[in-house]
Amino acid sequence: MAHLLSTHCTMKLSINAKVYTNLPNHHPKALFTSLPVHTYKHPSKSLVFHKRKDPKHHVFYATAVPMSKEAETQIASGSHQSSSGPSKPKRVMIIGGDGYCGWATALHLSNRNYEVCIVDSLVRRLFDHQLGLDSLTPIASIHDRIRRWKSLTGKTIQLHIGDICDFEFLSEAFKSFEPDSVVHFGEQRSAPYSMIDRSRAVFTQHNNVIGTLNVLFAIKEYQEECHLVKLGTMGEYGTPNIDIEEGYITITHNGRTDTLPYPKQASSFYHLSKVHDSHNIAFTCKAWGIRATDLNQGVVYGVRTDEMEMHEELCNRFDYDGVFGTALNRFCVQAAVGHPLTIYGKGGQTRGYLDIRDTVQCVELAIANPAKHGEFRVFNQFTEQFSVNDLSRLVTKAGKKLGLEVQTISVPNPRVEAEEHYYNAKHTKLVELGLQPHLLSDSLLDSLLNFAITYKDRVDKAQIMPSVSWKKIGAKPQTVTA
Ligand SMILES: NC(=O)c1ccc[n+]([C@@H]2O[C@H](COP(=O)([O-])OP(=O)(O)OC[C@H]3O[C@@H](n4cnc5c(N)ncnc54)[C@H](O)[C@@H]3O)[C@@H](O)[C@H]2O)c1
Repeated sequence: MAHLLSTHCTMKLSINAKVYTNLPNHHPKALFTSLPVHTYKHPSKSLVFHKRKDPKHHVFYATAVPMSKEAETQIASGSHQSSSGPSKPKRVMIIGGDGYCGWATALHLSNRNYEVCIVDSLVRRLFDHQLGLDSLTPIASIHDRIRRWKSLTGKTIQLHIGDICDFEFLSEAFKSFEPDSVVHFGEQRSAPYSMIDRSRAVFTQHNNVIGTLNVLFAIKEYQEECHLVKLGTMGEYGTPNIDIEEGYITITHNGRTDTLPYPKQASSFYHLSKVHDSHNIAFTCKAWGIRATDLNQGVVYGVRTDEMEMHEELCNRFDYDGVFGTALNRFCVQAAVGHPLTIYGKGGQTRGYLDIRDTVQCVELAIANPAKHGEFRVFNQFTEQFSVNDLSRLVTKAGKKLGLEVQTISVPNPRVEAEEHYYNAKHTKLVELGLQPHLLSDSLLDSLLNFAITYKDRVDKAQIMPSVSWKKIGAKPQTVTA
């Protein structure tokens, strides 16, 4: 699959803010012509195209208006000034910035005056095409999203489209942007996707582990000061019958005591890729002095952030299907369309959860308070824990208030996991740094449900039931259909 993504290009959308900040409600297609890049089907556009010495790496600067002298100088030099001076904004590279968490974070940090650059292969959009899925919300192309952001705020988000498994591409992105921090969301993040068949399992582990390894080498090679903020998952820990600590546990064994990485018990090929990432990062912190924060994130819910409220074209994706949808988002959509809430097995599966507005807050806190050189810091990034049964009760109650008749069914659990277990995970470090959580309140549930109701005509009910079984995975390529 990776071969589909082997070509890459770097795009800098240069827009005259003066013109477009005055025209916030114009559709960008009326304002801009488009990019003559093979992967994007747009009509012709005025384009400044500078070919570098390296014939495989092209830098595109697309503009609908004449570019400023300053921008032209930047193109000519092929690099930007370093941001080491105290007055300069911090430069944050967001890998996976077209995805669910990444797009919300890119907008949030840009709004907070960080200089933001998105790196993304757009493979998440390809998964939808492969599996016949779609976001509940209509989402604009990454180009239109960025142009709209610029037209509304005057702020530029740089865009590098390519696969981070391609080290040459990643190197160029690093050399041209010179990030102070890299936030790495850019992975295949669905456990069911990784359990479809052998090729998806191999793709997931290759994409995630090699991608992260490349990021570590890029930091070592080009940007040693750069702080890596890597999205891990609470799923790395599994569900042990003891409290889950934040990354490390102090153990006394046969009279000797040590503080060791907390044991990992991943439960899918996806989760295993995250465990391997964590080990590779920890090793390079020790060996090369890399500074890194591993954010073991819980399950994210919600869709709106302050920035997205500004325009529908900034809207985030919202997955509700059996492969990419996460529990609470799925339940809200199921309630909205009158589908019984699908509880896997006994429903006692308990996990940490957080609002997407807290994801962006946590990432900003991690960037603003970086790890020290050689430090491998682990934060458990969630705000509350719920069982699947808890969530179904909450959604049922909220649905009733809105006049919905919500039913639940227990479906055979497609996963191999404990359905009743002890779960108590620590999550104090981000709160100590200043996280102010948005807890799951009745009003938030109401608004999530109302959101699902607004888009319910876009729901493909055939995508709701789980279609991937942990036990039935085989070597033969599978076509997942509803
Ligand atoms: N969404 C959640 O509930 C959740 C929970 C825990 C952890 N996480 C972690 O957070 C991160 C982001 O999750 P998300 O829900 O935003 O996922 P997503 O699939 O919506 O976004 C991931 C983005 O990364 C890009 N990408 C993937 N592989 C790439 C590669 N090799 N090169 C360049 N870009 C690549 C995709 O195109 C996509 O835009 C993931 O690492 C995931 O494991 C998410």
